[in-house]
Amino acid sequence: MEKPKAVLFDAYGTLFDVYSVGLLAEQLFAGQGQALSVLWRDKQIEYTRLVTTSSHGAHYQPFWALTQAALRYSCKKLGLVLTPAHEHQLMNQYRHLSAFPENREVLQALKANGIVTGILSNGDPDMLGVAVKSAGLDGLLDHVISVDPIRKYKTHPDAYALGPQATGLDARQIAFVSCNAWDALAATWYGFRTLWVNRYQLPFEELGTQPTRTGTNLRDALSFF
Ligand code: LAC
Repeated sequence: MEKPKAVLFDAYGTLFDVYSVGLLAEQLFAGQGQALSVLWRDKQIEYTRLVTTSSHGAHYQPFWALTQAALRYSCKKLGLVLTPAHEHQLMNQYRHLSAFPENREVLQALKANGIVTGILSNGDPDMLGVAVKSAGLDGLLDHVISVDPIRKYKTHPDAYALGPQATGLDARQIAFVSCNAWDALAATWYGFRTLWVNRYQLPFEELGTQPTRTGTNLRDALSFF
């Protein structure tokens, strides 16, 4: 089979560690940091689906706003008092999430092989721009694709279609890499070749389709070549 010509990465959870906010959360809310970071993430993704599937997208809000709403909800649910100062600190941390350490070398290796690289993410352009810059990844990405212009979040097929549109390639010529099982699954359904990076030893989704490949870190993206 022809090798992929481009590799597109999911951003949050894949290039950037969404659970790295747990450390600050733990300092602010002792004993609840991990619970908050997990619930925050789950609620954020739930909100993306809620606004995409309801009322023909009339209630769309950018990812930053949904992330903030999810933080407020999660604190209420856990009985934590979120002061404006806490919220500011946690959101600021989210803007500068830690990047997984192998990112740079993997992107460099792909570029050295002439592979087109990019991000295809729910994040809005502003968030993605700051995250890419603070992780030192600018210059290693040919495309930073946000779903924001179409106001539909993954897993809507129009969101994945931004990949072929931006690169001018067919879906089968693109390898899509995500640490989120649901994202790897929907991208496979869409028609991409996929790598699910299973960082947390989780089971894959039980919906009858498997990703093209499964790995444990981003270096496994090089296994397509
Ligand atoms: C993203 C979400 C899924 O970056 O984390 O698209």
